[in-house]
Amino acid sequence: MRVQIQKSQILEFLKMKSVWLQHCKTTSSVCVLDSKDAVQVAPCGHSLNSIPGPTSWPLVGSLIELLRKGGLTRQHDALVEYHKKYGKIFRLKLGSFESVHIGAPCLLEALYRKESIYPQRLEIKPWKAYRDLRNEAYGLLIEEGKDWQRMRSAFQQKLMKPTEVAKLDGKINQVLADFVKRIGSVSHNGQIKDLYFELNKWSFETISLVLYDKRFGLLHKDVDEEAINFITAVKTMMSTFGMMMVTPVELHRTLNTKTWKDHTAAWDRIFSTAKLYIDRRLKRHVSKPTDDFLCDIFHQSNLSKKELYAATTELQIGGVETTANSMLWAIFNLSRSPCAQAKLLQEIQAVVPLNQSPSAEYIKRMPYLKACLKESMRLSPSVPFTSRTLDKETVLGDYVLPKRTVLMINSHALGCNEEYFDEAKRFKPERWLENKSSINPFAHVPFGIGKRMCIGRRLAELELQLALCWVIREYEIVAIDNEPVDVIHSGLLIPSRELPVAFIRR
Ligand code: HEM
Repeated sequence: MRVQIQKSQILEFLKMKSVWLQHCKTTSSVCVLDSKDAVQVAPCGHSLNSIPGPTSWPLVGSLIELLRKGGLTRQHDALVEYHKKYGKIFRLKLGSFESVHIGAPCLLEALYRKESIYPQRLEIKPWKAYRDLRNEAYGLLIEEGKDWQRMRSAFQQKLMKPTEVAKLDGKINQVLADFVKRIGSVSHNGQIKDLYFELNKWSFETISLVLYDKRFGLLHKDVDEEAINFITAVKTMMSTFGMMMVTPVELHRTLNTKTWKDHTAAWDRIFSTAKLYIDRRLKRHVSKPTDDFLCDIFHQSNLSKKELYAATTELQIGGVETTANSMLWAIFNLSRSPCAQAKLLQEIQAVVPLNQSPSAEYIKRMPYLKACLKESMRLSPSVPFTSRTLDKETVLGDYVLPKRTVLMINSHALGCNEEYFDEAKRFKPERWLENKSSINPFAHVPFGIGKRMCIGRRLAELELQLALCWVIREYEIVAIDNEPVDVIHSGLLIPSRELPVAFIRR
């Protein structure tokens, strides 16, 4: 029986492979499907069940195989292996959760072209359960439909328009000035104990200054209790929701489990702190309206206070660890690439006068800096994949995917695929400058795609670009060993050990 299934899978796969070769044509810039494929139902229209994938056993699906491959913390590697084995699209069932994984630019482009008006990601049920319990609103990460679009439009201009984001460079620099000083004060022989935590403090401090106009003092010696409580609450909330994503949240709520209680208490603390700072900020600006990030959004949109609280809180949560993680990997990649680092320093010195701070304006003239960051995010993405839940039957390549199919868009698998990036394992910023036109834009999607792509993208990029300018200008980042650093999945992709880097003052 099993042999028969495998045989038919192999035949299906071979058939599929030949069709892929016909459909996925590379052009100079974009891997496009033939235009007819993008709009018409594929003639063969195979069903979901014919998508290849690892053997799925009753009840557990492929969970045991995944555990044998290293478990959930190694799932990113297992998914790359599956893409190699089954092709650009495969199907995976873990317990009762089934998803279809796509890891080819042409499929991402097809999805992008057929995107619905209100794209959906996988539901974060524990967050929704808390908001329903306390009658709080949903923010951008979990809102759906028309309300999501209304909220997105309220923030879109301030966060996605380059000229608006550029206005935040002063605030970003204020935190960075403290951060580079702190590197000097907390490092021993150039090494920093728990660099990731230090970077989290930096990104937390930056986003708080942007959103609440408030410094928490995390980069100073004496951190106030309020800040510690807030950060601890965010950590607890993040560490308790994973369990309720894989076990029914209703059960946790009914049994009032410790996980549910901790999760709820953490959100209570997050909301009460955020509300306090948002209210203070709105009050301060009501008498003399200025060009102020949050007040402008509130007054120029039709968001209620409740929606503003939820949306702002989720911006904070979405923007801290992701940015810290990307900076961590950029530091690591530059430590192992002294030539790229020297070239980057040269560019910084040529553009930014010694007695001045870097700024959004200077960054416009720094292509190598942008290339370094892009390359680091390709080689070491923070968010390995994002998801979409189809709200209508959709044809992707040769398959007709029914409504409610969960698609996983694997940016990690794309970034390490030799088919889309030569010498994919090497840190080569030059690839983004010299052979730019040969890189398919849908092969590099660290911030997701389409209408629901990361709304903090431009802010994060500016934070990271300025941070690299400040750090590289002040310190040489050196590798203190050249042993491989393993990557583990814990929501984001993180190093399995303290990064072997040191900061040597120039
Ligand atoms: C390097 C840093 C960051 C990375 C790698 C990152 C990555 C992502 C990704 C992959 C998504 C999902 C997009 C999709 O499904 O297509 C996302 C969504 C989101 N991110 Fe980010 N992000 C970063 C920084 C930020 C920052 C700084 C903020 C806040 C200002 C933020 C707020 C959000 C929000 C609110 C969403 C949901 C958007 C929506 O559904 O409309 N992110 N991010």
